Amino acid sequence: MTQALYPQTDRQNLDNSPSGAPPHYVVQMTDPHLFGTPGRTLLGMDTVNSFQQVLSHLPADKIDHIVLTGDLAQDASAPAYENLIAMLAPLGLPFTWLPGNHDNANLMAEIAKAHGGGIGDRVVVIGRWRLIMLDTSVPAEVHGELSDRELACLKAELEQAEKQDQFCLVCLHHNPLPGTSEWMLEIGLKNAAAFQQVLQPFRHRIAAVLFGHIHQNIDRADEDGIRYICTPSTSIQFKPHVTDFELDILQPAYRWLELYDDGRIETGVCHLQNFELTIDMSAPGY
Ligand SMILES: [Fe+2]
Repeated sequence: MTQALYPQTDRQNLDNSPSGAPPHYVVQMTDPHLFGTPGRTLLGMDTVNSFQQVLSHLPADKIDHIVLTGDLAQDASAPAYENLIAMLAPLGLPFTWLPGNHDNANLMAEIAKAHGGGIGDRVVVIGRWRLIMLDTSVPAEVHGELSDRELACLKAELEQAEKQDQFCLVCLHHNPLPGTSEWMLEIGLKNAAAFQQVLQPFRHRIAAVLFGHIHQNIDRADEDGIRYICTPSTSIQFKPHVTDFELDILQPAYRWLELYDDGRIETGVCHLQNFELTIDMSAPGY
C-alpha cells in the first residue's frame, strides 16, 4: 500500500489549527453483495454471514457514522436491502448508503425514504466534515458514470463546503482511478476526467475520495494531491496486479477513518481474523 499525505501548501489559507478535539470516527463498509434469499452464496461465500461477522467486530461504541459504498445487494432485491437495514439496526448507529452496479438505485431510494433516518441522504455533516454521497450506477452496466446532475450536485456541495469552511470525504462506488489489474480497466468510472475537473478547484477541501467496487485496499494521491482510497469488501476480495480475474485469500473487511477538525484523516483496514473462507478460487469472474 502506498500512502500520500496532503500537500500542506494547499491548506495554508485555511483555519486548520488543531483544536485538540477528538476525531469523528467513521466506518466504511462496501460491496457486501447480499442476497434476499438466506443461504445463497457468492463464489462460495455466504455474504450475509460475512457481513454479520464484520458487523460483530465493529467498535460500535466509538462510531459516529457508517457509510456503505455500493454493491449492497447482489440480486438487487428488496429483501436484501431490508435485511441489511435489519442487521444494522441493533447497532443504533446512523448510516448512509449509495448504489453500485449490482444495485437498484430507485429501489434503494424508495426503501431509504420508507425507513427515514437519512439512509439515502446525499450529504452527511459531522462536525467540520461534509460527506458527499454520489450515485455512479448505470442501469445494466458494470462500469460507472456520473450524470450531469450528479456532477452539478457534487460541485454545489463542494461550494457549500467552501462557504462553511468544511472538509470533505467524497464517496462513490466506482473507482475513479484505473484498478490495479488489467481486467479492471473497463469497469471503472467512465467520466473520471469530468469528475476530477470538478474536484480540482476544491482540492484543499477534499481529504479523500472514498470508493469500493474493486474489492481491495488502495490508498494513494493523484497528481493534484487528491487522495484516493479504496476499501476491501465485507465479502470476497479481488487479487491486485493480475491480468485476469482472480480472487484473493484475504478475509472480509471494513475501513475505519478518524476525521480531525483540522482536516487530517487517519485510516486503516481491519480484516476478520478467523473467518473460514470457503470461496471458489478457480472462479473466472463474479
Ligand atoms: Fe462489488
